[in-house]
Amino acid sequence: MKTLFFNIKELVQVRDSSIMKVQGKEMKNLPTIKNAFLVVENEKITDFGSMSDLQNFNADQVIDSRGHMILPAWCDSHTHIVYAGNRESEFVDRINGLTYEEIAARGGGILNSAKKLEESSEQELFEQASQRIKEVMRLGTGSIEIKSGYGLSLEAEVKMLKVIKMLKDTYAMNIKSTFLGAHAFPAQFKEKKEDYVDLICEQMIPEVARQNLADFIDVFCEVGYFDVNQTEKILKVGKTHNMIPKIHVNQFNSIGGIEVGVQCGALSVDHLEVMEPNDFETLKGSQVMPVALPSCSYFLGIPYTPARKIIDEGLPLALATDFNPGSTPSGNMNFVVSTACIKMKMTPEEAINAATINGAYAMGLSKSCGSIARGKDASLIIYKDIPSLNFIPYAFGSNLIDKVMIKGSFI
Ligand code: NIG
Ligand code: FE
Repeated sequence: MKTLFFNIKELVQVRDSSIMKVQGKEMKNLPTIKNAFLVVENEKITDFGSMSDLQNFNADQVIDSRGHMILPAWCDSHTHIVYAGNRESEFVDRINGLTYEEIAARGGGILNSAKKLEESSEQELFEQASQRIKEVMRLGTGSIEIKSGYGLSLEAEVKMLKVIKMLKDTYAMNIKSTFLGAHAFPAQFKEKKEDYVDLICEQMIPEVARQNLADFIDVFCEVGYFDVNQTEKILKVGKTHNMIPKIHVNQFNSIGGIEVGVQCGALSVDHLEVMEPNDFETLKGSQVMPVALPSCSYFLGIPYTPARKIIDEGLPLALATDFNPGSTPSGNMNFVVSTACIKMKMTPEEAINAATINGAYAMGLSKSCGSIARGKDASLIIYKDIPSLNFIPYAFGSNLIDKVMIKGSFI
């Protein structure tokens, strides 16, 4: 099946396929072609260029894209979309004055979701997560990372990862899976935390690896959760089982987790709402992708990741949703891009780079998505007739998407 889009008002994020990520000042540059064509064959982009270079109109499907901008689909590198039920009562508790940390200390938070997950079957979890996957695809997401971490026992963690595998096998979008057994300490391990770390290292990681259920390993490195030594130990054991480290770090406190992430060769360090001067220095010279989650800051009313400083220091930055029932019940990358511009003072070009090419890097997917390049996935957002690129973050409450294509098929 060959599809030709012609008369495209502007084809955005056109890059050589060798570009894996962009950082510092380069993030302000978003290459585009005005009045363009784009050829899709089966799942892939096979050609594109200026209309003046279009040789012929031979294709099974020819689409006049006059007035439409086309972008690569969003790459959401951090989500927890497999979960049971919701936590809207905690949302009301926070309105009434409790903090996220206070709710967690009372046995709510992650442990609340773990209890709900334990009571749900694989099929129920799959059905709930499917609704969320379908919703985010309609919102323009073409690649996504999904974490476990609401199981917190060998059995329940494997159940979650199997649901992620079912999603991978069912939906066309790229799905990467992350083992996050180190998301919180189960109540029965409150007084013997090292035993839970041992359970993760000695039983969970080997079993998850044996069943080949995780691409990445993640830890919530935070006061009251996993300290730096526990984090390092878990990431290292994960690495010996071929899981690439990622890390939840500096959400509420800076406790040295970024250093551990960098030392362990993490692909990304995520959250970063609280950054000390030495944290920026640690990131420099590393290959790690910092990831900001502005809709989490929005929802919890916590500080936003200092994106301006990160980029002005010459570092890269990716944007992701953190879609989960506690801190971000939303998988809307359009809102993330707008919020990054409005609250974190990223330019539209920077935010779009962060949500596409850099998000792809944070999932190890730069070779297949995140930009318009020959050989990459034909996962595209086709916009309604909007005046300019700036309109995308500017009109933050409007649905500007006309159509979404995931790997060559309209959804
Ligand atoms: O990334 N910070 C840790 N984990 C999630 C929230 C999990 C939850 O509250 O259910 C996050 O924000
Ligand atoms: Fe998260």
